[in-house]
Amino acid sequence: MHPSEQVVTITAEFKADAPARYAELRELGPVHRSRFSTGLEGWLVVGHDAALDALVHPALVKNSAPSRDKLAAANYTNDRPGVGLGGNMLVSDPPDHTRLRKLVAGAFSPARTRALAPRVQRIADDLLDRLVPKGEADLVEAFTAPLPVAVISELLGVPEADRADFRRWSSLTLGAPSDPQREAALNLNRYLADLIAAKRRSPADDLLSALVAVRDEDDGRLSEVELVGTAVLLVVAGHETTVNLLGNAVVALLRDPAQADLLRGRPELVPGAVEEFLRYDSSVEHATPRFAAEDLVIAGTPVARGDVVMVALSSASRDMPVPDHGDPAELDVTRNGVRHLSFGHGIHYCLGAPLARLEAATALSTLLRRIPDLRAAAPLDELEWVPSGIMRGPLALPVRFTP
Ligand code: HEM
Repeated sequence: MHPSEQVVTITAEFKADAPARYAELRELGPVHRSRFSTGLEGWLVVGHDAALDALVHPALVKNSAPSRDKLAAANYTNDRPGVGLGGNMLVSDPPDHTRLRKLVAGAFSPARTRALAPRVQRIADDLLDRLVPKGEADLVEAFTAPLPVAVISELLGVPEADRADFRRWSSLTLGAPSDPQREAALNLNRYLADLIAAKRRSPADDLLSALVAVRDEDDGRLSEVELVGTAVLLVVAGHETTVNLLGNAVVALLRDPAQADLLRGRPELVPGAVEEFLRYDSSVEHATPRFAAEDLVIAGTPVARGDVVMVALSSASRDMPVPDHGDPAELDVTRNGVRHLSFGHGIHYCLGAPLARLEAATALSTLLRRIPDLRAAAPLDELEWVPSGIMRGPLALPVRFTP
């Protein structure tokens, strides 16, 4: 049997041990038949060259008739009115994708992002002012989650009082299809639709008000469904990803205190270390599903029209040679010129990459400086991982330190 014909099942156990499991799969071949935690079955791309091919393949699309039928059969539909992540750039193909991405691209440009640096630093310091005297905490709840939530909320214009609900719904939305998942997606959609109505009545200096203005110019640039869909996407893509990257980075540093000491002693290494954390154990384990618009071949594997293709970005990133010819399975925060696929590739390349880098560098350098003796308060091998099909990160991270 061709190795790609063995069905790989992506279970919670697989996800907990993902880097090692992907390494085993890469030994067998770049593309495997797989059953995903969402219930979908299709192809899992684990090799670097095959991943690049898949991410730019013109016939691997986000939105196609056969794929919609499959998603509906797996009860995983994204475009039922009012539910999920419908009507946004991440689930669109050109020309809709091009139009939707252009509308918000300016807000996430490197220059606009640089201007946010003092605000991100303030948020990190405020959270640590509250955390440091305690001596112990769940670092996810106290730091790695509230920081990205605060940043994206401020950008969009989400009031502080609503952010806890907002965080809960957004996390649940990423879970496997289930009643709580659908209810959370519905709540998040309703909440953002109401917030959009409020911005329409009294605009403020935020991204949601700016999008409402574009919508209301009514020249066909943005429909109401797309306006809400874009808001939901920015909330979910704009923080879960960063929460989990930070969680994975802190887990890696707790496992390897010598690397943490290196960064404490040489904080100028932190921006490069962020690239290494993205490469070593990123939060977006798989890119979002793509569908074959026609029969095609990826790395020698035939993919039939309508088949689902998932690209394991985390696996592909570990399959790239590292600049110093060292071991790609090792964490080395001093590597220069690290490359990875953690922000994707091609037209859907992460729009928020500059913001994610700023948040991660600020959060990690501030945490290392202000809590020099951070240590795990529970065995790291027993951590629970977020129950999401595409995301990887610790659900909670109990830590202890000198107050
Ligand atoms: C797309 C990763 C943070 C907004 C993507 C994709 C990846 C990714 C892999 C492509 C998915 C695919 O092709 O299926 C990450 C990681 C982050 C992060 C690892 C943090 C560590 C952010 C932030 C924002 C953001 C802070 C801010 C709003 C987006 C958007 C897209 C996207 C809007 C869709 C782009 C498109 O379809 O053209 N991200 N992201 N991301 N990301 Fe991020």
